Amino acid sequence: MSSTWLLSIATILAATLLYNIFKRISSPSLPLPPGPRPWPILGNLPHMGSAPHHSLAALARKHGPLLHLRLGFADVIVVASASVAEQFLKVHDANFSSRPLNVAAKSMIYTYQDLVFAPYGQQWRLRRKISSVHMFSGKALDDYRHLRQEEAARLISNIARSGSKAAVNLGQFLSLCITNALARIMIGRRVFNDENDGFDPKANEFKDMVVELMVLTGVFNISDFIPALERLDLQGVAGKIKKLQKKLDAFVTNIVEEHKDSKSEKHQDLLSTLLALKDAPGEDADKLNDVEIKALLLNMFAAGTDTSSSTTEWAIAELIKNPDIRVKLQQELDSVVGRDRLVTEADLAHLPYLEAVVKETLRLHPPTPLSLPRTTSESCEILGYHIPKGATLLVNVWAIARDPNEWNNPLEFKPERFLPGGEKACVDVKGNDFEIIPFGAGRRICVGLSLGIRVVQLLTATLAHAFDFDLENGLNPEKLNMDEAFGITLQRAVPLSVHPRPRLSPHVYSS
Ligand code: HEM
Repeated sequence: MSSTWLLSIATILAATLLYNIFKRISSPSLPLPPGPRPWPILGNLPHMGSAPHHSLAALARKHGPLLHLRLGFADVIVVASASVAEQFLKVHDANFSSRPLNVAAKSMIYTYQDLVFAPYGQQWRLRRKISSVHMFSGKALDDYRHLRQEEAARLISNIARSGSKAAVNLGQFLSLCITNALARIMIGRRVFNDENDGFDPKANEFKDMVVELMVLTGVFNISDFIPALERLDLQGVAGKIKKLQKKLDAFVTNIVEEHKDSKSEKHQDLLSTLLALKDAPGEDADKLNDVEIKALLLNMFAAGTDTSSSTTEWAIAELIKNPDIRVKLQQELDSVVGRDRLVTEADLAHLPYLEAVVKETLRLHPPTPLSLPRTTSESCEILGYHIPKGATLLVNVWAIARDPNEWNNPLEFKPERFLPGGEKACVDVKGNDFEIIPFGAGRRICVGLSLGIRVVQLLTATLAHAFDFDLENGLNPEKLNMDEAFGITLQRAVPLSVHPRPRLSPHVYSS
């Protein structure tokens, strides 16, 4: 064993001992929330398992909906019921509005100069305000509506063309479509080509890059909880982080430089607006610098693409598995839209059953099942327990949305529960009804919520309206595998591979 190893282990043992002594001396009078007994040094890291939202849901069933874990030296609070989530994300929201340190995010996304991982404060507020105004306001969403519709139309004709020859991997097509739609809003052009049989292999590389980014920033990295171990890189993530950081930086630097070079052409997109704001007269404190602009672009590409495409893929899988629900949705679409054109965003307000289908999909398949972690600025008391300063907060939105105390037959896909007369007729996903919070809640709620909902609704409606889907190899829809892949994001274990059968007038498919 090398002397570095011996020194590190000795340091950790000494630090653990001192930490425990200090904790005991400075213990507050209130107890910590209950939880499983931690292992020496690693604490409860071994309890996290390969699908942490499942393991944490099982722990909550045993110890209750408010749990305390110790991951390395860090206190972690896990929430698994609507009423407890409301305490943290509404009553005490201001105290839980920062993000914990994250070694992977720090290296890959320009040392927290972004929006997603930025500490709560002035810089976060400015980045959030700028993106809310220029990308997600009602006006900005309406201004870019035609771009999303054009990309949806291309998706349909690409699927029709490819599907006439072989089964199509729906997730791949959705990912390409959503990335191009977002790219046109953010940088004024598509980033992937769909000329060649409707699919650009580079789009797969991009999807892999985004999923890897989410995995590496979401993984329970020992170095985040025991900083002394960072140099040893026990999980072997440092190499992957370095490699991915280079690819991500090349991707956004290229985009920004190219945009600056073509300044003379009149662009109408978020990046042009950010660059123009930067060069406009006024206080530097009110502007984003080049690095912040790159970080923001990365955030939007990463947070906006895989979340929306995996939700739409789950929605279509549920419609295939539940043919009665698909027929009901198609009847609604045919009566509002007809069979002679595609769905538009203006139609969405007249499609209540579609809205219920998308809510039910987000309930059972939230793309970030543990939301994004928060951290406490000050210690506080919640429900009679001591919550230590600097503790990491994980909200198990997946478990909350399947809680049998909140939902009748929680595992059943039943959009009717959100319709008039249903058990949750007035419940929405926008952060006010804590039994379903796929976008989080409070100050740090998803900034792209309105765009995400529009994109998932538009694409689910467009696909269900334009096609009936048969499963590859004649598989019976009842047998469709609905397992989740292991990991921190909610991917399907088996990608959805389908044969599309067009159901609208033929001219609709030739965009
Ligand atoms: C189905 C779609 C989506 C889901 C379910 C989703 C979910 C989430 C969740 C759970 C959070 C953490 C909220 C919290 O801490 O309470 C989040 C944050 C965020 N999301 Fe989304 N998201 C979606 C789509 C999008 C889109 C389309 C964009 C942008 C293009 C986006 C950008 C962001 C950003 C920038 C943050 C960080 C906000 C902050 O820290 O202030 N998301 N999202």
